[in-house]
Amino acid sequence: SVLEMEVEQINKGKYEHYMQKEIHEQPESLTTTMRGRLIRGGSHKAKTVLLGGLKDHLKTIRRSRRIVFIGCGTSYNAALAARPILEELSGVPVTMEVASDLLDRQGPIYREDTAVFVSQSGETADTLLALEYALENGALCVGITNTVSSAIARHTHCGVHINAGAEIGVASTKAYTSQIVVMAMLALAIGGDTISNEAKREATIDGLIDLPNKVREVLHLDQEMKDLAKLLIAEQSLLVFGRGYNYATALEGALKVKEVALMHSEGILAGEMKHGPLALVDENLPIVVIATRDACFSKQQSVIQQLHARKGRLIVMCSKGDAAAVCPGESCRVIEVPQVEDCLQPVVNIIPLQLLAYHLTVLRGFNVDQPRNLAKSVTTQ
Ligand code: G6P
Repeated sequence: SVLEMEVEQINKGKYEHYMQKEIHEQPESLTTTMRGRLIRGGSHKAKTVLLGGLKDHLKTIRRSRRIVFIGCGTSYNAALAARPILEELSGVPVTMEVASDLLDRQGPIYREDTAVFVSQSGETADTLLALEYALENGALCVGITNTVSSAIARHTHCGVHINAGAEIGVASTKAYTSQIVVMAMLALAIGGDTISNEAKREATIDGLIDLPNKVREVLHLDQEMKDLAKLLIAEQSLLVFGRGYNYATALEGALKVKEVALMHSEGILAGEMKHGPLALVDENLPIVVIATRDACFSKQQSVIQQLHARKGRLIVMCSKGDAAAVCPGESCRVIEVPQVEDCLQPVVNIIPLQLLAYHLTVLRGFNVDQPRNLAKSVTTQ
């Protein structure tokens, strides 16, 4: 109706689409996610993280034999992005399960496990069924959702709300970055204030506090991503290479492109390049390589060299000021992003790819907010 259309326009404010609005409001949604949860501490007091919904369970989680992340789609990717920092700070083995695959295999879940269920809606059928399964097997179940009183929030033993605000676009954007931030805070809370973690913990908390500013900065790439989208408008396919903290960025960037722009896209673990994907490389197929500064940087430099040697059409995402260090030739395009603490870099790095997917979709004339065949919340198996 006309009234519904008017209400919609009011909700979208100055933006044309919800996805666009939700991408651009990430400095604010991340701020809301962290509000009241990061304690700066005085001059001698250490900085800490306070997650009210978890505080009575932290001891049990620290003592668990393994932490297993369970989710679908973008929520799974967010957990994958947080896995390395959780492993690093907790020392507990962390494994990943796509909810439907866990159910298909009836994979082992034990009483000594902590199972963390990640879901924006809190209503996804596969994730909910995996939760019932984990409860039957006696695991401690933690929920990370964006919806207070959702089924997953109600049925888990404890949890953390993402507090990203309502997300309307079917393709998840601001919920993804807020989920990563919540799981980074979870890693800090589980890691506790051991001496060995001190430097990493302080740097991560400082990084979190400054993150909304860095996100505001990376959003300035909007026009640049629109220009890139114009170049890629007629392509059949796009590959995205990442590793380490940014393996998840590769998967999530490719998921955004395929789900909204309806273009084939694949996220590839760069370490697997020579075991198959290299066969696809030629002068036509566009390839995004994520090579921001972290422990994997030199390995990514060598990946770029190998792709260049095979005439690959490169688009390299690097830290500000690194263009010359990463670009093997004239034809290479760069996306320069602000550098942040390594474990938070996935929050910054996904944003140019969200913008790219958004602009590709609009330019190709497809429905951004309600992509063909997809639903915001999949409540049937
Ligand atoms: C659907 C949506 C995706 C979402 C996935 C998981 O497929 O289209 O955007 O990532 O469900 O949803 P959840 O609400 O559990 O995070």
